[in-house]
Amino acid sequence: MRTWVAPGRVNIIGEHTDYNDGFVLPIALPQVVECGARVRTDGRVCVVSEQRDDSVTVEVGELLARRDEVPGWSRYPLGVVAEFVRRGHPVSGIDLELDGAVPIGAGLSSSAALSCAVAIALRDLFAPSMSRFELIDVARAAENDYVGAPTGLLDQSASVLCTEGHALFLDIRRFGETEDGSSDGNERGSAHEQIPFDLDAFGLRLLVIDTGQTHNHAEGGYARRRAECEAAAAALGVPALRDVPSLDVVDGLADEVLRRRARHVVSENARVLEVVEILRGGGDPRAIGPILTAGHVSLREDFEISTAALDTAVATARAAGAHGARMVGGGFGGSALALVDHDRVDAVADAVREKFLASGYSEPRTFVATPSAGARMVI
Ligand code: GLA
Repeated sequence: MRTWVAPGRVNIIGEHTDYNDGFVLPIALPQVVECGARVRTDGRVCVVSEQRDDSVTVEVGELLARRDEVPGWSRYPLGVVAEFVRRGHPVSGIDLELDGAVPIGAGLSSSAALSCAVAIALRDLFAPSMSRFELIDVARAAENDYVGAPTGLLDQSASVLCTEGHALFLDIRRFGETEDGSSDGNERGSAHEQIPFDLDAFGLRLLVIDTGQTHNHAEGGYARRRAECEAAAAALGVPALRDVPSLDVVDGLADEVLRRRARHVVSENARVLEVVEILRGGGDPRAIGPILTAGHVSLREDFEISTAALDTAVATARAAGAHGARMVGGGFGGSALALVDHDRVDAVADAVREKFLASGYSEPRTFVATPSAGARMVI
């Protein structure tokens, strides 16, 4: 049996822009999902997980028919196998042994870490010439079609493409159109670019605050936001909100809700470009703090996906000295991040903890996120 790993992610900026063909800037987390895998020749997929008591065995040919019977957690790995088969890669059977260390439902992409760990194992075992873009797209399709979570490409791209010490700047539209897996993403102007993100050199840390309030993207809110964005693009007569040239154009939308949704996406894309410009130039990352905070305000006011606990985390972190803070991920729960001087990490974490307990929330989990490597085989 060999072992592959794929990390969770935290998005620095660029939230709900991916399915609008826009820009994102995630880093990979040190926390990974591990996938041990061994080829079988009897046509069966057998999945076990360190985090579950039940194991699942399904014939490759019955993956689609049995989808509704298998436990929810197993739909991620089974969906990846089903997607390989659907794309014409014969799978003779496989044993999968999973062990996940990415917090679940925390907005840190535990699900993409899981589907990418399985996808990279299957790629290496059954389809070695598959490009990285297709690998990412297989993991996305498994989550969209087999699990039923209508995510974009942000999480899977981060989990596969991120590198240590960098944030990944990705132009989602160009990535899908141009990526053949050959670019290593180091050239400026390519569809993905590794942006140096050495917070340590500037005495900074990225503090992640997991509120402990979990979300589930197979449920309503996320899908509604996607539909609203599509409706806004249609009303503006553009293929995607990525194509809206300025906020003035957004103001022309008659529907107030669609106007706010579009305002978030258009302004968020601009924020990604602004942050990338600052970091590319090797400038002090403290300068991105106010842009992160502006991103939170936009998600709270215009996109309306924050929660009272996330708002409390952001406000408290800032009052305790963070240079900027915002909720991350799909919203409706999960985590916030805060950009903090290294010697303020404990003070900010303690302030948030105290405020949470005083507000009747459960104790948040905090940790420092360092930009880590993407999916790979480890043994
Ligand atoms: C979730 C989805 C991503 C992305 C983010 C919001 O994490 O899986 O595709 O849309 O929400 O930026």
